[in-house]
Amino acid sequence: MRILITNIKQLCQVEQGDANIKRVSGAEMAELPSIADAWLMIENELIHSFGPMGTLPAANADKTIDATGKLVLPAWCDSHTHLVFAAPRETEFVDRIKGLSYEEIARRGGGILNSARKLNAMCEDELFDQSLERLHAVIKTGTGAIEIKSGYGLCEEGELKMLRVIRRLKGQGPATIKASLLAAHAYPLEYRENKEGYIQLIINKILPRVAGEGLADYMDVFCEQGFFGVRETERLLEAGWKYGLKPKIHANQLHYSGGVQVGVKHNALSVDHLECVGDAEIEALKGSNTMPVLLPGAAFFLGIQYQPARKIIDAGLPVCLATDYNPGSCPSGNVPLLISIACTQLKMTPEEAINAVTINGAAAMELEQSIGTIAVGKKANIFITNKIPSFDYIPYDYGNNPVETVILNGKLI
Ligand code: NIG
Ligand code: FE
Repeated sequence: MRILITNIKQLCQVEQGDANIKRVSGAEMAELPSIADAWLMIENELIHSFGPMGTLPAANADKTIDATGKLVLPAWCDSHTHLVFAAPRETEFVDRIKGLSYEEIARRGGGILNSARKLNAMCEDELFDQSLERLHAVIKTGTGAIEIKSGYGLCEEGELKMLRVIRRLKGQGPATIKASLLAAHAYPLEYRENKEGYIQLIINKILPRVAGEGLADYMDVFCEQGFFGVRETERLLEAGWKYGLKPKIHANQLHYSGGVQVGVKHNALSVDHLECVGDAEIEALKGSNTMPVLLPGAAFFLGIQYQPARKIIDAGLPVCLATDYNPGSCPSGNVPLLISIACTQLKMTPEEAINAVTINGAAAMELEQSIGTIAVGKKANIFITNKIPSFDYIPYDYGNNPVETVILNGKLI
C-alpha cells in the first residue's frame, strides 16, 4: 500500500542524508529543517521517500492526497501523561480558585488520593473504555506516541489494573505507547504512619509482579517535599534498575527537591516538571544523557511559576515538552495548546517548541530511531494540517486544532 501526499506547502522537521538525529540541544533547537512545496511517499507503515515537487517521481500510488496550502509534520510525541484515570477533579479546581493550594488539597486526602479512591472502585473494562476515548481524542490533535503512567492505584491490584489497561491500549493501536510504573506517586492513607511499609510494598511486591508480567517500560517516582524524598527515591530507582526499568521521574515541581540531581545520578532517561530549576540543577544536567522534560500545562493550570526554558536552552541543553495530561494538575492532552503555552509563557520559539515535542519527545521515550522526524525508513506517523500560512501559526492560533488528517503506522486514522 502506497500513499502519496503532493503539493505540501511545507514538509516540516525533515531529516535528510544519514543525519540520524538523536535529540536536539541548545542553539540547534532554533532550527526546524523543512522543505517548501514538497511531496511525501508512504509505503506500508514506513516513510518511503520525499522531496521538493520538482523531483516528484512517476511512481504509482494506491492513494494520492493533495495537500495544497497544508503543512505536514511528524506526529507529536507526548512523553509524560497520566491518561488512565477514573474521574475528573473539577471540585478541587474550584477549591484552588478559592485559595487552597495543590499541596493543601493533597494533605487533606484529596488530589492523587481522591483519584486513587475512584480508580480502585472502577472495573478494568470501564477504565479501559474511558482511557481509549481519551487516547482517540489526543490522536485527533496530532499525538502519535505517548507515555502513560500508573500511580492512581497505590496498591498492588490497583497499580496492576492500570498497567494492564495501558497494555490493552498498546495492543489496540494505532498510537505508539510506553508505560511507566508510578506506584510512588503518593503514600496511600493506610500507610501515612508507616511510610517504610509502602516503600517495601512497592519494592518487594508491586515491582516484581509488574516486571514479571512485563507491564512497565520505566520506573517513575514523585520526588517532592511531602511525597517521596531523595533517599526514598534512590531506593526505588535502584530497585527499578534491578528489573531493567530505567527511571523517568517527577522532579522539582513544587520545591528544589533534589530530584534533578538524584535522577541524573541514577541515569534517568528524563527528569520531568522542573518548575524549580537553578544553576545547580543545570550543572547536574550538563554532561548527562538525562532529558529535561518541561510540563508547562501543569504550571498553567495550577497557576504556579513556569519552567525556565530559556535558561535551560541557553545552557546548551535539550528541552522536551510534554502535556502531563491528568485529572489534577493538567486535564488536557492537547499538544497544540501546550505549544502555545510554551511559546507565550516560556518564551520558546515555535521551532524550539516543535522540536521539543517531536524528536526530543521521541528521545524521552527511547523512540528517536523510529519516530519524531520525517526521515526515510522511519514509521509513517505524521499529520496534515488544515490550510495554514506557516508552522508559526500553530501556537499563534491557540485553542484551535490545526490538524486535519492523522496517519499512524502508514494508516489514515
Ligand atoms: O505530574 N505531580 C504529580 N503528579 C501529577 C499530578 C497528579 C494529580 O494531581 O493527579 C503531575 O502533575
Ligand atoms: Fe505527571
